[in-house]
Amino acid sequence: QLSVREQLYEILALTAKFYEHALAQPQGHGALNYLLHDRQMRPEIIQQFQLGYAPGGWSTLHGYLVEQKNYPVKLVEQAGLIVPRKENSGYYDRFRDRLMIPIWDTQGRVIGFGGRALGDDKPKYLNSPETDLFDKGKTLYGLDRAKAAIAKQDCAVVVEGYFDVIALHAAGITNAVASLGTALSQYQVKMLLRYTEHKKIVFNFDADGAGVKAAERAIGEVASLAYQDAVKLHILNIPNGKDPDDFLKIHAAADYQKLLEVAPRWLEWQIQNVIGGRDLSKAGHLQEVTEAIAKLLGSITNPSTRTDYIKECAEMLSLGKSWRVRQLEEDL
Ligand code: CTP
Ligand code: MN
Ligand code: MN
Ligand code: MN
Ligand code: MN
Repeated sequence: QLSVREQLYEILALTAKFYEHALAQPQGHGALNYLLHDRQMRPEIIQQFQLGYAPGGWSTLHGYLVEQKNYPVKLVEQAGLIVPRKENSGYYDRFRDRLMIPIWDTQGRVIGFGGRALGDDKPKYLNSPETDLFDKGKTLYGLDRAKAAIAKQDCAVVVEGYFDVIALHAAGITNAVASLGTALSQYQVKMLLRYTEHKKIVFNFDADGAGVKAAERAIGEVASLAYQDAVKLHILNIPNGKDPDDFLKIHAAADYQKLLEVAPRWLEWQIQNVIGGRDLSKAGHLQEVTEAIAKLLGSITNPSTRTDYIKECAEMLSLGKSWRVRQLEEDL
């Protein structure tokens, strides 16, 4: 007799197979075309990431799991796959006519799904709700496939989207994982740190307003670790592009590797942001920038790290080096 959790794992694994199978059927042709042509995905990558298709009907999966396989309807609901109807009795399939992306735990068990709309349907992504097995803040998409490479390369790359992970892995950059559309939590960063020796993590969020905000929020989450060097955090923003998937459609993997190598450390990135478009030859701007930088550096606990950063900042602010060092030290 299987426990409830074991049954939930079983239902989700079976559902992933069901969706995979549907992708290969005539009904999945549109979705398959989308992957092969629109997203330029190779068949072996589709297989490797167990991508699938949720048929368009209201109770295709319900019929399969409950009527054909005799799973209790309550368990299928608990797995997040069907939704009770508001007015009438009964249930409908949560995912319909969507491209399905299984989400695994660190051990590679399916715990949920992301479902991408094939056209302009809203929302673009519909994800599994939180269940007994699926806790978004404690999951990183792709970690089970990335963990060996993270350990080997002693570095983890965090991106925003499912397809960013898939595109990076397809390009041979297999130490990439994604936060699941939610803000990256400190818990998730700690999950990654378990696999690295020297604690290097690169955030590569989309090069748009939302991505910069996400990076700032994520930095806030791990700042207490970063200030003590418990994580060596770097920030990569792809120039003239949006996300890693877009970038790899027109650039080689080696180009991405180069970006990774030169990604600035988080404080440098933040200082660059603080300086932003300000004109440092104007006294008011310079004062603002110095204050903001002093605030950033004030929390560095290690005195020698702090001195290094102060020197570096002074250089970044170029003119009148010694004056600025003094100014920063005073502000601290
Ligand atoms: N996301 C989500 N729900 C949404 C939008 C986004 O859960 N309505 C999550 C998804 O995990 C998505 C990630 O946030 O992969 C990043 O969002 P976005 O950059 O908008 O999507 P992309 O992954 O770039 O999607 P695509 O390339 O398919 O357009
Ligand atoms: Mn075709
Ligand atoms: Mn985005
Ligand atoms: Mn994106
Ligand atoms: Mn994208």
